[in-house]
Amino acid sequence: MTRERIISGKPISPEEDTFTWSLRPKTLKEYIGQNTVVKKLLISLEASGIRGEPQEHLLLHGPPGLGKTTLAYIVSREMGTRLVTTTGPTLSKIADLMGIMTNLDNRDVLFIDEIHRLPTAVEEFIYPAMEDFRVDFIVDKGPFSKVINVPLKRFTLIGATTRVGLLSAPLRDRFGITYHLDFYSHDEMKEIVVRSAGMLDIKIDKEGADIIASSSRGTPRIANRLLRRARDYAIVKADGNITGEVARKAFDLEGIDSLGLDDLDRILLKVIIDYYKGGPVGIEAVAATLSEEVNTLEEMVEPYLLKIGFLIRTKRGRMVSQEAYKHLGIPFTVSGQASLFA
Ligand SMILES: Nc1ncnc2c1ncn2[C@@H]1O[C@H](COP(=O)(O)OP(=O)(O)OP(=O)(O)O)[C@@H](O)[C@H]1O
Ligand SMILES: [Mg+2]
Repeated sequence: MTRERIISGKPISPEEDTFTWSLRPKTLKEYIGQNTVVKKLLISLEASGIRGEPQEHLLLHGPPGLGKTTLAYIVSREMGTRLVTTTGPTLSKIADLMGIMTNLDNRDVLFIDEIHRLPTAVEEFIYPAMEDFRVDFIVDKGPFSKVINVPLKRFTLIGATTRVGLLSAPLRDRFGITYHLDFYSHDEMKEIVVRSAGMLDIKIDKEGADIIASSSRGTPRIANRLLRRARDYAIVKADGNITGEVARKAFDLEGIDSLGLDDLDRILLKVIIDYYKGGPVGIEAVAATLSEEVNTLEEMVEPYLLKIGFLIRTKRGRMVSQEAYKHLGIPFTVSGQASLFA
């Protein structure tokens, strides 16, 4: 089953991506949150600048919509070089990548989004490019085949993935630096909402920003989307200003609660409570009961529920926490489930 979720971390339309383009921070200074990553990146960029060398290959991983693509753009901007972007699933042929890589200049940045979806042959082709800045190109087949060594310029590869666990070890090991982007704090989210509102000329008060921040699942892309929904609601149903009340009403209409949970989140928790006594239960069983893909649940639903402690991952499967019962208004019974928490 596919559903469109407003609180999805992924872009829900190409138009949306075009729109949020303008909201992307352009420098590390402008980049809100992810403080540790930003600090380390500043040092690494400065060092490579001083040494006159390219930035080490960089792997960014974390849930969708947290700013991986934004960071790749910033890195190339800070280095004053070009950024060439592509994605794992579109690089189906070695020749495609060959064309891209031979056109790269010194210190250019090659950004490969969804790098966990690179075909194996293409992945193996990248290893020598990352290590020694050369590629081995095989021409002809059979007895006349030859390996041609093509030298490349010293570029920087930035890989982004939402599923770092799916990356092969040899590929992961070839990145000099790996950064994990985590969900943003409430205060950081508020700052992002206020910044975006300012850039879009949207009037919003403190309570309005508060509500949007707490409904955005620690994800800037969702915050920007909810900001626009609240603005539309404010224009039609109020005087155009986003107050706390306006934002709350707008999100009630969309079925988004005070923690940013939507129907799918609540159904998932309720299925575990109703059918599996609160767990533990395997994700496959939950997915089957919900007629959802395991992948969707693992990538789009679970991370945030785990983050806020509503779901707990155990060796025997997922369990719903006492806080989740409370949030859903379901009495927490002292049964087998409760004793497991004791
Ligand atoms: N640190 C930040 N400060 C302000 N806005 C941000 C920040 N990070 C991201 N954004 C906003 O969130 C949007 C989504 O960010 P981005 O496209 O970089 O996410 P992503 O992690 O690459 O997501 P995906 O995994 O889906 O590719 C951007 O358009 C930008 O407006
Ligand atoms: Mg992206």
